Amino acid sequence: MTITVVGSINVDHVMRVSRFPQPGETLTGSDYQIAAGGKGANQAVAAARSGAKTQFIACAGNDAMGVQLRDDFIADGIDVSHLSLLDGEPTGLAMITVSDDAENMISIYAGANACLSATHVEAASSLIASSEILLMQLETPIETLVAAAKIARAAGVKVVLNPAPATALPDALLGLVDMITPNQTEAELLTGIAVVDEVSARLASEQLHRLIPEVVITMGGQGAFYSSSLSSMLIAGFKVAARDTTAAGDTFNGALVTALVEGQSITAALRFAHAAAALSVTKHGAQPSVHDRDAIEAFLVNQG
Ligand code: RIB
Ligand code: NA
Repeated sequence: MTITVVGSINVDHVMRVSRFPQPGETLTGSDYQIAAGGKGANQAVAAARSGAKTQFIACAGNDAMGVQLRDDFIADGIDVSHLSLLDGEPTGLAMITVSDDAENMISIYAGANACLSATHVEAASSLIASSEILLMQLETPIETLVAAAKIARAAGVKVVLNPAPATALPDALLGLVDMITPNQTEAELLTGIAVVDEVSARLASEQLHRLIPEVVITMGGQGAFYSSSLSSMLIAGFKVAARDTTAAGDTFNGALVTALVEGQSITAALRFAHAAAALSVTKHGAQPSVHDRDAIEAFLVNQG
């Protein structure tokens, strides 16, 4: 029961601000830290820590950061046999400010992530074909995602796409996806429907079902709306004291695929993913805030 993640690696430069600066304004921040991030890496770490055998196909720079991050993935039990450290390319990076109300603003520099190519995923085709789920996001080139999805499809591997950060997507990719997991902003970008409640989430899902059998729209405090041809439901999340929401969506996705490969029901899988995401917002940083399986299960037991 293996998950393959194709995606990005970033070094996150994070600081806190009391509020976000206006254009042209300078503010003094606090609590500067460098932390492991990148949507692909965060999701791979979330899948591994939540209990799945995880393989990660990605590119970083052949620099101190790239080497350190690869060692960290190995310590998390992740198969990095197809993580390439590229000479002459910097490891991707993100500049993140987190405000006192736990919101964030992120600018990313792709670096080596832009070099993850169809050739890289084709070299890893047996890895992809040997897994149950392929999980991808949008911080690496679209044609690479298409190539990976084609390999997965041909091998009967379920393709899960987290369409983040929000970008318009070609049918050539969407038509290869089995489950898509947008947030409200991403769902609106993909469908033109403003997703504000269960009714609008259902409308947006129906539009996505034109090409994609299963849809999960994450809706912040409202929970997650799931829809397939068989059923639809809104599963509430858990209320926690939020400190930093960075990577909450990534943690949700990583834990969700873990629960799905284990054969948990969709209801149970969404609760498991909500629990993992809730725990992650209680801690600063992306990967430093991803909790392990024991913590997720203990949280779920406490919630009753
Ligand atoms: O989803 C959160 C991630 O987005 C951060 O870790 C940052 O690297 C950006 O990619
Ligand atoms: Na966090």
